[in-house]
Amino acid sequence: MAAALFHETYGFYTQAPSIGNSAGPFDTSAKFPAFGFGVAQAITQAAKMIGDPVRVLELGGGTGQLGVYLTSFLTIPHDYVVLETSSGLRGKQEEKGLKTVGTLQGLQPMATVVFGNEVLDALPVHRVMGLANEEVCELFVELDENGELCEQPGEFSTPELQQRLHQEQIHLGRGHIAEVCLEIKPFLRELAQVVNPGYIMFVDYGDKASNIYSYRHRNGTLRCYYQQKQIHDPFYAIGQQDMTADVDYTALVSEATALGLELAGSTSQGTWLTNLGIQNYVGTGKDSVSRQKEVDLLTGVASLGSAFDVVMLKTPGLPDGPGLHRIPERDSSKFHQA
Ligand SMILES: C[S@@+](CC[C@H](N)C(=O)[O-])C[C@H]1O[C@@H](n2cnc3c(N)ncnc32)[C@H](O)[C@@H]1O
Repeated sequence: MAAALFHETYGFYTQAPSIGNSAGPFDTSAKFPAFGFGVAQAITQAAKMIGDPVRVLELGGGTGQLGVYLTSFLTIPHDYVVLETSSGLRGKQEEKGLKTVGTLQGLQPMATVVFGNEVLDALPVHRVMGLANEEVCELFVELDENGELCEQPGEFSTPELQQRLHQEQIHLGRGHIAEVCLEIKPFLRELAQVVNPGYIMFVDYGDKASNIYSYRHRNGTLRCYYQQKQIHDPFYAIGQQDMTADVDYTALVSEATALGLELAGSTSQGTWLTNLGIQNYVGTGKDSVSRQKEVDLLTGVASLGSAFDVVMLKTPGLPDGPGLHRIPERDSSKFHQA
């Protein structure tokens, strides 16, 4: 998955895909100005709680479209930086006037508001499978006798896999396949070194561990997107299709806590944007009908509003995150272990 997405020449993201464009591999909330408006309210409120000026650090900026919307709606004093691993996408972001970095190495710790839309789901995962007698193997990619790519079971490549399964009390029955993302830890560790004080806001799709690893997902959650279609073959059109897996929020929060960060709150995208006042985006102008459609799409329970979640982290001492003050039980249930 790491090679398919990030290979220096042939990786899907390296080749600067048209994310969010209807001709591209998939749609994201980031293509809607209303989303930028709502997120800008959250960043503004977060900055006030920290004490501006702040650095705004966008994670995985895609084509740079969201960065353009966000900077146009932000009126607080700030320095806007995009962390983007793909050189191709950095090029697109810079063409739109955004400042980018490929790593966090050169950034100093300072007051920062971090925002990442659909970045955690792009972190490469390990694939594991339950065997008889409660044993679990890892699935590796190999070539079969015909020279075709195939999955091959083997022993765990790292003890961290066993630790995660143990920590989350994951039991996989025979043939039950699951994904484990170990990249969350180093990713958060690097962020924790430069965010001081600050908030880290993630919008993504996922669930708590007991749901992600339940029998309902016995084939795992790894999936691919090619020209707006969901594909279940990871070996199809490698480098041209996106690959993604549901985010394990239990792991996200426990890795963050181990690094000294705290959960600042969580809810659905729809509830969050509504609490932040996204309705003010609509106004009374002649485009108010199309603006209302955008807002409904981003907040509706039958659309993106419940498909995506917000999970917010903070450094100790800050109040709970913006937009998270009224969390209905229905929304917060994903984030608490049963
Ligand atoms: C699914 S796209 C989302 C893009 C954009 N945020 C949006 O919502 O349209 C994932 C983005 O994260 C970037 N990315 C993946 N892994 C990353 C990492 N470890 N650090 C920074 N960016 C990363 C990809 O290159 C891409 O820009």
